Amino acid sequence: MIGPEVEVYEVGPRDGLQNDPRDLPADWKVSLVDRLSHCGFKRIEVASFVSPRAVPAMKDSARVMAGIRRAPGVGYVALVPNLKGYLAARDAGADEVAVFVSASEGFSRANVGCTVAEGIERAGTVAALATSDGIPVRGYVSCVTDCPFDGSVCPETVAEAAVALRDLGCHEVSLGDTIGRATPNRLGRMLEAVLKRVPADCLAGHFHDTAGRALANVETALAFGLRKFDASIGGLGGCPFAPGAPGNVATESVAERLRRLGYAIQLDVERLAAVARFARADSALEVPEEKGPNNVGERQKET
Ligand code: HMG
Ligand code: MG
Repeated sequence: MIGPEVEVYEVGPRDGLQNDPRDLPADWKVSLVDRLSHCGFKRIEVASFVSPRAVPAMKDSARVMAGIRRAPGVGYVALVPNLKGYLAARDAGADEVAVFVSASEGFSRANVGCTVAEGIERAGTVAALATSDGIPVRGYVSCVTDCPFDGSVCPETVAEAAVALRDLGCHEVSLGDTIGRATPNRLGRMLEAVLKRVPADCLAGHFHDTAGRALANVETALAFGLRKFDASIGGLGGCPFAPGAPGNVATESVAERLRRLGYAIQLDVERLAAVARFARADSALEVPEEKGPNNVGERQKET
């Protein structure tokens, strides 16, 4: 018997590459997204429109968004910190935008240079305009159990931030274990507090795998009723402003775990494995031409 359906939301091209030590050209990023487009994802977070001084690796987001070949049925999402970022994402044709706030003051200051309250206000400006433009808004809350600067985070504070994002119009709130320190017990306590105020079908789990507990945390969140998980192909990733946040949980590992647990997923595991190899190659130049279902190999030669 096949269990309930779970969505795996791909964040590799954004969360995975924003801190990548390789100097990856825009064409390579386009190729990554094009390969992911044929793996069965409903949504792929392609890029972020943030200050290029803050995150140099995302400076070519407009080029990447312009270069991808959009597959039918796939939503291409862009992360935005403020109005300037939103306008750029809208111009680039983002199907959905993601705003982000922190549950802790220390990370908010390091990440976006403002307090949590100011971050929520900026998110509100974006959400109001996006809503009037008919563009869906996803919200992130970072540091849901631990902050690299302030230590452990109170579950009630996370619930407050999640409610604030919902009130701004976010259709979904992704709960981020930004530095991968959550344990299943502490994650559970946080989820209990959030679920008193936000229904499970409006939540996603976003677990970094720093301590190797991300899959256990996915299982905990499943037990609490969450059915959406963010993951990064090949386990790429980290946050430049969160010391000790090296990698998001790998998409292919989440897919495999969900399949073993009997959940229904819409992902093609063989294609995922091939894209994970592509994503992890030491350098873009070492990546062999791999002719994808949309003839990506040929297009790369043209560009
Ligand atoms: P700031 O310096 O306070 O901004 O940065 P500002 O308004 O004073 O502007 C300073 C300069 O940045 C100006 O340029 C602006 O035009 C420019 P100048 O006049 O000096 O030449 N600027 C921008 N440029 C491009 N795009 C923009 C933009 N906004 C201003 N959108 C700011 C504030 C928020 C912009 C900055 O701190 C920033 O970009 N931070 C982004 C940090 C980031 O991307 N972090 C990683 C993503 S969050 C994450 O990974 C966590 C998550 O995965 C969940 C989890 O794991 O928990 C989502
Ligand atoms: Mg993250």
